[in-house]
Amino acid sequence: MPAIVVSHGGQMPEHDGKITFYVIVCVILAAFGGMLFGYDIGILGGVTAMDDFLKKFFMTVYEKKKRAHEDNYCKYDNEYLQLFTSSLYIAALVASFVASWVCSKFGRRTTLQIGSFLFIAGIGFQAGGVNIAMVVFGRIILGFGVGFGNQAVPLFLSELAPARIRGALNICFQLFITIGILIAGIINYFTSNIHPHGWRISLGLAGVPAVILLVGSFIICETPTSLIERNRVDQGKATLRRIRGTNNVDAEFNSIVAASEAARRVKHPFRKLMRPSSRPPLVIAMLLQVFQQFTGINAIMFYAPVLFQTVGFGNDAALLSTVITGLVNVFSTLVSIYSVDKAGRRVLLLEACVQMFITQIIIGVLLLLHLKPTGSLDFTEAIVVVVLVCVFVMGFAWSWGPLGWLIPSETFPLETRTAGFSFAVSSNMLFTFIIAQAFLSMLCHMKAGIFFFFAAWILVMGLFALFLLPETKGVPVDLMVERVWKQHWFWKRYMIDDDEDDD
Ligand code: BGC
Repeated sequence: MPAIVVSHGGQMPEHDGKITFYVIVCVILAAFGGMLFGYDIGILGGVTAMDDFLKKFFMTVYEKKKRAHEDNYCKYDNEYLQLFTSSLYIAALVASFVASWVCSKFGRRTTLQIGSFLFIAGIGFQAGGVNIAMVVFGRIILGFGVGFGNQAVPLFLSELAPARIRGALNICFQLFITIGILIAGIINYFTSNIHPHGWRISLGLAGVPAVILLVGSFIICETPTSLIERNRVDQGKATLRRIRGTNNVDAEFNSIVAASEAARRVKHPFRKLMRPSSRPPLVIAMLLQVFQQFTGINAIMFYAPVLFQTVGFGNDAALLSTVITGLVNVFSTLVSIYSVDKAGRRVLLLEACVQMFITQIIIGVLLLLHLKPTGSLDFTEAIVVVVLVCVFVMGFAWSWGPLGWLIPSETFPLETRTAGFSFAVSSNMLFTFIIAQAFLSMLCHMKAGIFFFFAAWILVMGLFALFLLPETKGVPVDLMVERVWKQHWFWKRYMIDDDEDDD
């Protein structure tokens, strides 16, 4: 049996083609999957703070909240509520493995269609919930939707994009996540004053992007890679011509065909993933997601209003500060779109580590010195904290946020791409769950020390990026093995032909 590592021998072709209008439309429509994910991240913190919601489903939490003792760091610590928020991520984790199978057997587009139906059903159950079982059921279905969406969208975007702007197009997924978070923050700001059903509006409005995604999933094309992989070679070539806006697609077509032939020889992608030659992209895909969560970003995305209240803002000022960090998040993602295919992935990741490390340390020191369990920061100090949080979010938004999704979607060879990517998605979900579940308790126990905890992780991930993360800018997806893994000073030792007993 020949080696399954794709070999093109000698000169590597550069693939070209225009950026067609149709590609842009497909990118935008698919990216709505990201908006739904982001909307959920942003909406729940606000909803679970609404008294009407708590009185209906979490009476004990509501009562506890009323007589909460006034310890700054501990007043919001509540396991049940955290579990409710984070249950979605467990459902998504499980779903991502099923989605990976659907993705390679039936295509990226079908996966997205299933995802959209799940989104709509989940949103309906959540927003229309009459008892806690119904709301939790909705949340789990929504989680399945996130699992399917997050599996399909980044792969779809990376495969659809011409290599030279792949980073920028893929980051549209993250851009839409950030837009979803921002819109959710703004909606919560208004619905928190609508009684008693404001929370239903907050949860139900996710239906708008969900319907757009569903309609869009019937408009977009399947990726040429997925078509060719599933033996629809002519259709794949026609799609490639259509999305590249040229008939001259032979070089790219041939490299996809070569990758598909290699992929077809692999009967058990998950088994293949456990082989040494899969280790470099697998380890990197999982670690990028783990590190992404250990920057501490979701401590801010989920709990920003709580955090800002903790340092002394009133309710409205805290919600407003949340909208400001949301805006910073969106605009900084644009910086990433602009620079990722020019400066490259590594520069962004490394620069951001320095920026995030410094801000986490200063926030930690400020709180350590000035925020005692009772009382609050003075106004100037509180403003400084908001500014520092913005600088932190900025760094995350042009680096670990988007690249945590981009790099895993572009570095696996086709035979392990969907299976490998499902490990990235599920790592994200697992560690998002852990942070969502643990943050408020950690804040209560570690107090300001939690910021040093995140800073230490940022140091570790910076060293990892410096020594072990190869640059993937501009390398065609189906030539990664040859150009990246086989050339890397450390990872090349794993690139051996190891497919003997795959059939
Ligand atoms: C992460 C989310 C995070 C978001 C913030 C995404 O890349 O996966 O966990 O909340 O970025 O913008």
